[in-house]
Amino acid sequence: MKARVHPLRQKLRGEDLRVPGDKSISHRALLFASLAEGESRIAGLAPGGDVRSTARCLAQLGVPLLRGDGTPWSAQPVPSRPAGSLPLPEHDPDMGPDDAIVFGVGLRGLRPPAESLDCGNSGTTMRLFTGVLAGAGVPATLIGDASLSRRPMERVAAPLRELGATVTTGEKGRPPVRVERGSMRPGSITSKVASAQLKSAVLLAGLFTEGETSFTEPLKSRDHTERMLRQMGVPVNVRGTTASLRGPARLQGVALEVPGDLSSAAFLLAAAIASGSVSLGHVGVNPTRAGFLDALSQLGARVELRLEEGASAQLEPTARLSVQQQSLRGSELPPDLVLRAIDEVPILAVLGALASGETVIRGAEELRVKESDRIAQMAQGLRAMGADVEELPDGLRIRGGRKLHGAEIDSAHDHRIALAFSVAALAADSPTTVSGAEWADVSFPGFYELLRKLGAEVELET
Ligand code: S3P
Repeated sequence: MKARVHPLRQKLRGEDLRVPGDKSISHRALLFASLAEGESRIAGLAPGGDVRSTARCLAQLGVPLLRGDGTPWSAQPVPSRPAGSLPLPEHDPDMGPDDAIVFGVGLRGLRPPAESLDCGNSGTTMRLFTGVLAGAGVPATLIGDASLSRRPMERVAAPLRELGATVTTGEKGRPPVRVERGSMRPGSITSKVASAQLKSAVLLAGLFTEGETSFTEPLKSRDHTERMLRQMGVPVNVRGTTASLRGPARLQGVALEVPGDLSSAAFLLAAAIASGSVSLGHVGVNPTRAGFLDALSQLGARVELRLEEGASAQLEPTARLSVQQQSLRGSELPPDLVLRAIDEVPILAVLGALASGETVIRGAEELRVKESDRIAQMAQGLRAMGADVEELPDGLRIRGGRKLHGAEIDSAHDHRIALAFSVAALAADSPTTVSGAEWADVSFPGFYELLRKLGAEVELET
């Protein structure tokens, strides 16, 4: 699909908008609820393709889970569950398509799948499932789409092997990932990369083993796993950048509400800063993950943040965020902030191009192995739009303030590239065509319809 995005002729306006549920938290909610004892009810899951991949893999492992409105998780049929699976829970008429009921099978209840587990485009699915399957000793093969099949998986396989698992990866340490039957031992893993996916894989494997398992990283990555495990009754100890837990653990089923995804909110906030005003309710603002908001203030933007109270705030803090059009000044963003805004770097680069002066983003080498090489994609696309951008090994240097022109951009099978350039297009002086715009659905289904509702002119061509 191509999205032809026109320069804004009127300011964007949106009050009390909601963004899709947080993707990181949604994966964990479905996966941890599956490992729990008893039923969990989850409201406000991320509706995109990635979380559907997680749901499908869980169904293949014999976990009975229902979408709130009783419809299947994807058009693709879920392979039949192995004989002896627990019965599916009743459908609840009060629940909607983004809600789920999961009947946990406990730590010993996962069944080896009959076919490979297809993680689609989702790195979080592949890495977290590798940890769980290794810990549970459930043999399975994890595969992914073309983009995921290029991403590094040895970083998760190697520490799990160090703890006794038999995990192999394909050529150059990429998918497929194969986990063999077997047991693991507890231990301490020290990682050179700060990564919540890695940390989660190791801690999840540790749930199954007798004794303490810990993970230490150079900087503290997002802590959704630690928070949710605690919510489900598992004590997780955190000291500095080390997180540890003792297995075997027991997870209890919970009712939880997933906050809106700050990573999706970021595109709307950026569009409004360029021209307009928006307010968004119920956005997750977990400090280990809210670097985008700090980056905005460093670029001189004022964002009104009102913390919300309520049941979900106990799990993850949420806020109402409002912004208005304003001018930005470039700044050098420090690596610890960049880690807390790692998924928002593409849209921060767009804001850097719109700001006056120079913006430098460093310490973002991980972006080279995301759904695409996001450093290269942003440099190339912004240059095509007329921006002055220098590609650094671990980031970007952007001399902002030049007028952006319309261009032909390819999403490179990457949702955040499609979304970032669609926002940049609003601030250009002629229309921009984003091809592969359907990838936006991975994290933000309905994005283009929402932009139109807010006053943008967007044509979609299939
Ligand atoms: C995620 C962790 C981050 C992030 C990704 C989601 C998670 O990746 O970029 O989009 O849910 O744990 P890394 O763990 O590779 O840093």
